[in-house]
Formats: sequence, structure tokens, C-alpha cells
Amino acid sequence: MSASPIVNNEEMERIIEQLPKINYFWNNYQLYQWEGFWSTLIILKAAMVFKATFKTKPNDVLLASSIKTGTTWLKSICIAIMQAGNKEEEEDLLVKDNPHFYVTTIETMDYYSKTLTDDLYTMPSPRLFHTHLPYRVLPDSIKNSDNCKIIYITRNPKDTLISVWHFFNNRKRLEDLTPLEVVVENFCKGVHLYGPFFEHVLEYWEESKKNPQKILFLKYEDLKIDPKKEVAKIALFLGKPFGNEEDLEIVLNKCSLERLKNLEVNKSGSLLSSMSIHNSAYFRKGIVGDWKNYMKPEMEEQIDKITKLKLQGSGLEL
Ligand code: A3P
Repeated sequence: MSASPIVNNEEMERIIEQLPKINYFWNNYQLYQWEGFWSTLIILKAAMVFKATFKTKPNDVLLASSIKTGTTWLKSICIAIMQAGNKEEEEDLLVKDNPHFYVTTIETMDYYSKTLTDDLYTMPSPRLFHTHLPYRVLPDSIKNSDNCKIIYITRNPKDTLISVWHFFNNRKRLEDLTPLEVVVENFCKGVHLYGPFFEHVLEYWEESKKNPQKILFLKYEDLKIDPKKEVAKIALFLGKPFGNEEDLEIVLNKCSLERLKNLEVNKSGSLLSSMSIHNSAYFRKGIVGDWKNYMKPEMEEQIDKITKLKLQGSGLEL
């Protein structure tokens, strides 16, 4: 089912009033369920406006992901690919600012601030932006046009969840940490920011199978196992294949977790200071299987069960 375009405030408020709501473990946020997915009020309003108004331009590239599945890494790689061949250290955008600064997550923009909306529309092509929104609520202009390519990244649900847990607990005192059991239970019930998680992944997966020229589907784990192969694939998809191995190596090194984590801008800067999220929170361990250090066997079992159920018959393994 596709959402109908909503443009005026009154109509938007009327729809929001009728939506199911639930308390989320993070910051006592209320989540609203629109078109089957959960989001905060701010995100929801931006998503509605985005869906109703966005128009693609030739060569647009939309990066898409559920939360904590490798977004920052993918953004960095795409930024570095766009700059590949430029060997000047001082021109390295990643040194100057956090990857999220250059590749905006659309629904986190203030849609009522004309400046930001204008920024998006006047950005020079090829425009590179990002969304955590599920495929079903993307603007028709993105879904139906050959102008806009999509790169989606996903990750093993258990590592994703541990990453989410750390991210939302960032800077909290030990006694204030949300118990992991609560996060796992919510996740398995489908209550997950931008979730349910599996529907999010499966929609992009199915679309990528139908139209692989338009949607490139990636897994965080594949990037870890064979970064050269995956980064070359991304560059080719973006129409910027590497001329030589050296340029590929440069991109990989520029985007390594160790390097990004230790850049001054990511050690001390903050894009979302109003939400107490510092740039350093985007770079943690980056280890496949880190969930083993935190999850009890019951939690592992709970998540494995739902993963098996949701993915069966899809051909996708996570
Ligand atoms: P961990 O919390 O498991 O360490 P997102 O960018 O979607 O928010 O995902 C965050 C996860 O990606 C974190 O995982 C983070 O450490 C990891 N990450 C961030 N930058 C990375 C990079 N350059 N290389 C590998 N992993 C990275």
C-alpha cells in the first residue's frame, strides 16, 4: 500500500492524531506508526513532506539504511569515491567534517526551515543524500525515475541491535542504561526506530532483485570481509570505476574506522549536539559478531527465531 501525498499542515496534523503511538526506550520518545513503520514526530513530519514534495534530478544518488547498519561507512566511501583521483590531502572532505555533514539524512532536516529545503534543492548534481526511511514511503519521484540510483546497506540484526543499544546509551551513567532485554524485546515485536527492521530490509532487497541497475544492495559484513571487492562495486554502480588499484586503496584507507575515529573533527565535533549525540558516537568497534559479548543465549535465540521466520523464502541471509 502506498501513502497518499500530504502537503498541508492541517491535513498532516489530522492524520498524525489518528496514528498508533508507543513509548520508546530512548529519551522517552513517543513513536508514531505511519504506513506501518515507527518514527518520532519530527521524522514523521519530514517524511510526509519529503514524500509529497521531492523531485529527483538526473544523477541523484540516495543512500538508504536502517539505523546502525553501516550508514557512516557507506557515506564516507561514497564521498571518497566522488573525490577519487584527487590526491591533495587538504582537499579531503572527511578531514574537514563528519560524513553526516556532507551527506544529509533527509528526514532529519527541518522541512519548515526554507534555508534547509533550499539547500537540498539547490545542491549541485550529482546530489548525494541519505534516508533511513523504508522503501514504501519514498517519494514516487524516486521510485519511478531512472534518474535516481539507490544504495542500501544492511547488517546482521544482532550486531545492529548492540550498536543501537550503545548509540542510544551513549554518555549515560551505568545505572541509567536501558536494559538490553528491553531493546531486544521491542525489536522482536517490530518496535524499532524506522522499523520493523526485517520489513525495512526485505522491501529494499526485493526491489533490488527486480531492478539491480537502480538499487545496489550491500551487507556490512561483506564490506568487512572483502572491502576491495565491495568498494569497487560501489564505484562502478556510481559510474566512477577506479582507473587503478592505488585509487581504490586510497579510498579504503581514507574511510577506515581507525582513521575516521581519530580525526579531530570526529573526536571533538558534534552535528546533533541538541540531542547530545557527538560525532565520536558514530565510530565504535566495527566488529562482526560483537553481539556475542553482550547477549544472553535467550536473546540470541529470540532474535534468531524472528530472523529465520521473516527471511524464509527471501533468499536473503543475515
Ligand atoms: P558498532 O557499534 O558495532 O561498532 P551507522 O553508521 O549506520 O550508525 O552504523 C554504526 C556502526 O558502523 C558502528 O558499529 C560503527 O562502529 C560502525 N562504523 C562506523 N564507521 C565505520 C567504518 N569506517 N568502518 C567500519 N565500521 C564503521
